Amino acid sequence: MIARDLFDLKGTKILFSGATGVLGTTMAHYLAQQGAELLILGRTSEKVNALQDQIIAEGGKASGYFADVTEEESLTKVKLLIESQHGSVAVLINAAGGNMPGAVIRPEQTFLDLDSEALRQVMDLNYLGTVLPIKAFLPLLLKSEKGTILNISSMAASRPMTRVMGYASAKAAIDNLTKWLAVELATKHGPSYRVNALAPGFFLTEQNRTLLTEVDGSLTQRGNQIISHTPMNRFGQPEDILGALHWLCSDASAFVTGTVVAVDGGFSAYSGV
Ligand SMILES: NC(=O)c1ccc[n+]([C@@H]2O[C@H](COP(=O)([O-])OP(=O)(O)OC[C@H]3O[C@@H](n4cnc5c(N)ncnc54)[C@H](O)[C@@H]3O)[C@@H](O)[C@H]2O)c1
Repeated sequence: MIARDLFDLKGTKILFSGATGVLGTTMAHYLAQQGAELLILGRTSEKVNALQDQIIAEGGKASGYFADVTEEESLTKVKLLIESQHGSVAVLINAAGGNMPGAVIRPEQTFLDLDSEALRQVMDLNYLGTVLPIKAFLPLLLKSEKGTILNISSMAASRPMTRVMGYASAKAAIDNLTKWLAVELATKHGPSYRVNALAPGFFLTEQNRTLLTEVDGSLTQRGNQIISHTPMNRFGQPEDILGALHWLCSDASAFVTGTVVAVDGGFSAYSGV
């Protein structure tokens, strides 16, 4: 018997929020190269259209849709549009998210300086920005014979770190949601519907470059602390996430649900001694 290709993503319709971000762009190009059809969900038409055009120019399939992941009404409109054009989708990736400077407790501050409005905003983006797209688009996944949701968590969820209090709380909620929803979907809709999350460790990107490295490329104190707690002794690169991404989007992970997969160079396994 010829084994079927467990990793085959050809023709798989993947709806992807945050696809125009630093990690998202690399993930989107990779999935398109595997033959998946990308439905890019974003707010900014220039960015969404640019990514869509690049993927098409590379011979892939992509189309853009516009919504703010924190606005239920705009998500509902997009759901109706996608339903009329595609009928169903097989994978939903929730990668829109990120830290917000106002929700950070800086070294000279204490918890009493917490900006509760900034906390609300970071929770809204990372937590509600995952819950609301799932609520809006789950009917499209259920119309497919199998459906997978992939949330993007962070190391900050399971190993809370100094400063990024709001972001860490929001990502911890994503981990909990991932497990809760995995049970909900499998028990109420069947074993073909799965929910997992990826927890990237420390990736050196434009957003955190000045936090982790000096202008001459050497490590800041925080960068040093992170690398000294990372057994693989380096920051991640966007490409490091692709193997786990491919596995969780494909039938290769058919019996995997409710899991948060760390892609962190061993950071979460290491006690520091
Ligand atoms: N980069 C890292 O080191 C790292 C580490 C751990 C986890 N993460 C997580 O991975 C995910 C992707 O990270 P990234 O580095 O690519 O982030 P990024 O900031 O480069 O991209 C974020 C994306 O989300 C979109 N977005 C933001 N707010 C939105 C909204 N309200 N509605 C719709 N789209 C919105 C942006 O347009 C962008 O496409 C995020 O959830 C982030 O928290 C990143």
